[in-house]
Amino acid sequence: LSLCGVVVILSYLLGSFPTGYIAGKVLKGIDIREVGSGSTGATNVLRTLGKVPGGFVLLVDCLKGVFAIILVYVLFKFAPNQGLLPPTVDVIIWQPWLVTLSGLSAILGHSKSIFLGFTGGKSVATSLGILLAMNWQVGLATLGVFAVVVAISKIVSLSSISGAVFVTIFMVIFQQPLPYILFSLAGGLYVIIRHRGNIERLLAGTEPKIGQKLETEP
Ligand code: G3P
Repeated sequence: LSLCGVVVILSYLLGSFPTGYIAGKVLKGIDIREVGSGSTGATNVLRTLGKVPGGFVLLVDCLKGVFAIILVYVLFKFAPNQGLLPPTVDVIIWQPWLVTLSGLSAILGHSKSIFLGFTGGKSVATSLGILLAMNWQVGLATLGVFAVVVAISKIVSLSSISGAVFVTIFMVIFQQPLPYILFSLAGGLYVIIRHRGNIERLLAGTEPKIGQKLETEP
């Protein structure tokens, strides 16, 4: 198994860890996917189970992203040099690509979890963790956009979508390597696509603000 394969599989499994689902089962005996927006993410946990569980899921899902990136640094440090280039050059060339691959695998794992029949969340918290571990300035700037939009609109999905749009701009502003820019484009687009139900509600004016229930809920 190549190093790439190891990174993809481990990061995908890490991202797959169903924090929100476990919180729903343990705290209320419910399947979080059957309530609210149906997402296993922190926003739906906040809406369904309250602030503390919501904050906890946010933190753990964010850490899944951080660990997916740390994994690459750890693996690469101990991996034998299989290429023709000396180890240092090899690492410098390939590490950003492996970081990107790891990040995308974790994002996919969170929203298409192997433990939940390929369902899950919208990968916002996990993406934030990945960004902070990739480049903390880009992570904080993206979080800043999220915070400003959430402060004004009180709508989490709109804030997540705004962050997903701005992340690539920040990658360019902070002069990040090409694989990171490609990560932000692909990850950002994926997060936006995961929000298509939210986009429909936003356009219809029915997307709930923080503290409000979904209108479709019983
Ligand atoms: O983090 C996901 C958030 O942007 C939207 O979640 O549950 O309102 O669809 P939700």
